[in-house]
Amino acid sequence: MHTERLSPDDSGLARAASLLARGQVVAIPTETVYGLAGDARDGQAVARIYEAKGRPSFNPLIVHVADGNAARAIADMTPQAEALAAAFWPGALTLVLPLRANAGIASLVTAGLSTIALRIPAHPVAQALLRRTGPLAAPSANASGRISPTRADHVLDPDGGLDGRIGAVLDAGPCPVGLESTIVGWPDGRAALLRPGGLPAEAIADVLGQPLADHHADPAVPNAPGQLTSHYAPNAVLRLNADSPAPGETHIAFGAPGPFTLTETGDLAQAAARLFDTLRRADRLGHPIAVAPIPDHGLGAAINDRLRRAAAPRD
Ligand code: TXA
Ligand code: MG
Repeated sequence: MHTERLSPDDSGLARAASLLARGQVVAIPTETVYGLAGDARDGQAVARIYEAKGRPSFNPLIVHVADGNAARAIADMTPQAEALAAAFWPGALTLVLPLRANAGIASLVTAGLSTIALRIPAHPVAQALLRRTGPLAAPSANASGRISPTRADHVLDPDGGLDGRIGAVLDAGPCPVGLESTIVGWPDGRAALLRPGGLPAEAIADVLGQPLADHHADPAVPNAPGQLTSHYAPNAVLRLNADSPAPGETHIAFGAPGPFTLTETGDLAQAAARLFDTLRRADRLGHPIAVAPIPDHGLGAAINDRLRRAAAPRD
């Protein structure tokens, strides 16, 4: 299959929408990372997503919608969910909510669960596309277990990318947030952090007026879907909390200059936006990678989560 690279203009959007309407899968920009989109109502399209990613089919997908009404047609929005949606949608927040009967979502999307992960992305290109297509299921547009893509070039990377496996990529440049969305659910009634991500957990707790229960899995204990041990794996071995590199290591700096710095100034949003591209560029040198300590608050908590997974032992 030839993978088309589409511009995010009217004709590119029309082409992407037409491929999606025919059950093809298309990589699309969002503010967090590029997603591999398929029509969420079309079981065959959803099967193509799993197939292109090589993803185990027990791992449920996030569904992206254009607005709150589209979300309410698919899931039961509890009062806490409505409060979070009002504060953070569109944006880098995914809510795991009870799936409505007759929502019209292919059962493969939720992998048989009674809940569904929903998000309204803020990226203008994703918004424009969703208004043409309706709900799109989209996991991150990387092969299963690899680093999430924050540029169209990452999606098409000859080393482990999806070139030739998908219909097209809609290229809107680098993703501004750079980390996957923060996932919140209510697994035992209380709001819980299921995955730290591009929206800081502290901001969510502020709106709820209570801290989030912490349900995101220990990276060494793969007990939940999507929480596999080495989930964000580069090829190289990664050493964390490294103030300086050992001989032969590539150093990823934080708050200091350097060819692989995440941020010269210590700005966590900048570090998040650069994280995955920096890991990929460092990995290409073929040496072990040493990463400087990153503060563990705000977006730093999500950055450290991804780094721990990238450093976890491989199977
Ligand atoms: O920023 C993002 O969230 C990106 C962009 C494309 O939107 N998407 C993304 O999707 O990161 P993915 O599939 O790589 O991660 C989705 C996570 C998985 O860990 C999955 O297990 C979890 O969401 N998930 C999906 N549905 C769920 C459900 N019903 N209950 C619990 N977890 C769920
Ligand atoms: Mg992913």
